[in-house]
Amino acid sequence: MFNIIIFGAPGSGKGTQGQILTDRYQLTHISTGEVLREKIRKQTPLGKLADEYISKGQLVPDNVVIDILTKFFADNPTSNGYIFDGFPRTLRQGEAMDEMLAEKNESINVVLWLDVDDDELVERLVNRGKEMGRNDDNLETIKSRLKVYYQKTAPLKKFYSKQGKLVKINGMGTVEEIFSRIEKVIDSLSTKI
Ligand code: AP5
Ligand code: MG
Repeated sequence: MFNIIIFGAPGSGKGTQGQILTDRYQLTHISTGEVLREKIRKQTPLGKLADEYISKGQLVPDNVVIDILTKFFADNPTSNGYIFDGFPRTLRQGEAMDEMLAEKNESINVVLWLDVDDDELVERLVNRGKEMGRNDDNLETIKSRLKVYYQKTAPLKKFYSKQGKLVKINGMGTVEEIFSRIEKVIDSLSTKI
């Protein structure tokens, strides 16, 4: 198996590039944000709870998203490889994920960090807010998402760079340009998909 974390700030392209990677390498993709939005659409109790955090640009509590990951592994016990988008976002989530993978004799192979300028992140998300209406894509919530990213999620870079797994990808440019940078990195790794 080949397990990838697609890492980066809100709007950095995790969903876009994650989907291309999933199709290209037949991986199993999970976006915790997508799972939570689906629960909000269905107005489940968990969805209602998550909405209170997401609409403010705050992180949903660790135990809620760790439970989502547990269910994901139970539903997808085997795969060519997993791709994690928007998870982990805190050190506690990273450690929980490592433990779950270790139980399967698996580990993360690479963390692809999509590095994008803040101005570009805001522009992409504001534009999407106008077109698609995700309720956290308004300027005030975007600013809070970015702040939370720098405070709580960006420190994970150190966690993965210590493990020798973090690879910085220039996330500026067209979707195709960025994907070809990702492909080069994956092709250069000693463990193959
Ligand atoms: P989540 O759904 O993960 O959102 P996010 O991290 O804020 O990021 P986005 O999904 O907005 O952006 P992306 O990086 O996927 O980029 P995309 O490809 O879409 O999380 C939402 C919320 O859920 C969180 O705030 C939190 O509350 C909660 N949550 C989720 N996971 C959690 C966890 N593990 N723990 C706790 N809470 C959690 O691209 C963005 C836009 O740019 C799109 O419109 C796209 O078309 C466009 N675009 C993409 N690439 C390019 C390009 N190269 N050039 C121009 N435009 C581009
Ligand atoms: Mg996304």
